[in-house]
Amino acid sequence: MNILIMGPAGAGKGTMSDLIIKSYDIPHISTGDMLRENVRNNTELGQQARAYMDAGKLVPDELINAMVEKRLLEQDCQKGYLLDGFPRTLVQAKAFEEMAERIGKPVESVLALEVGFETLKDRITGRRVCPKCGAIYHVVNHPSQTEGICDSCGNELQQRRDDTVEQLKVRMDEYEAKTKPIIDYFEPKGVVTHIDASQNQDATFTQVKEALGKVA
Ligand code: AP5
Repeated sequence: MNILIMGPAGAGKGTMSDLIIKSYDIPHISTGDMLRENVRNNTELGQQARAYMDAGKLVPDELINAMVEKRLLEQDCQKGYLLDGFPRTLVQAKAFEEMAERIGKPVESVLALEVGFETLKDRITGRRVCPKCGAIYHVVNHPSQTEGICDSCGNELQQRRDDTVEQLKVRMDEYEAKTKPIIDYFEPKGVVTHIDASQNQDATFTQVKEALGKVA
């Protein structure tokens, strides 16, 4: 199954993705995670992307498109993909559509997660992540068993560098101006499902499963 999951910063794309891949045999491909790994490893791409990410701005399209195309050609994408955080601009969306058709993997479902600003603020400031295994926690909604320690791998949890209220505002503005129009672009193709992601994780995942059930 070929899925895009979209929504503003903190909407729960990573959280829902972790649940989706437990039910479907497809990889979770997060362009944010791929970029952060490049920054950590200080690759050429990471050096170029870092300043944009720290400011909450989008990384230029040409860097992202090449990175995603290469990833989708890997063996584990044979049965499909779950793309999280991509495409993020209309330029990326059009290039992606052309590429997805060319490699025989057109989009079948676009999950549009919707959440208001105040809820996003709580989620972003309370988020803790494991830099080693990628597990996502929240100090109130989904705390780890031992404060500050990952349940899965025992590593120390961290706050993301861009998880401040200031950067959230920039990321929201970027989302409204550049990413939301992509949902309108896919809407006439009949693949978009709007999800009320302000609900708790279980209730949100129930809506996601219903949406994917229609194309499974
Ligand atoms: P990216 O990593 O994609 O960040 P984002 O889109 O800002 O989204 P987040 O990862 O912050 O949030 P999420 O929706 O995954 O929420 P989560 O599940 O963690 O991108 C980072 C940066 O990389 C961008 O700013 C840009 O610079 C660059 N970039 C990436 N892709 C790019 C592209 N294609 N083009 C250009 N630049 C790109 O949940 C958040 C918190 O809420 C967690 O603590 C979680 O436990 C909690 N939570 C989640 N769901 C619920 C729920 N239903 N109820 C209660 N709590 C919940």
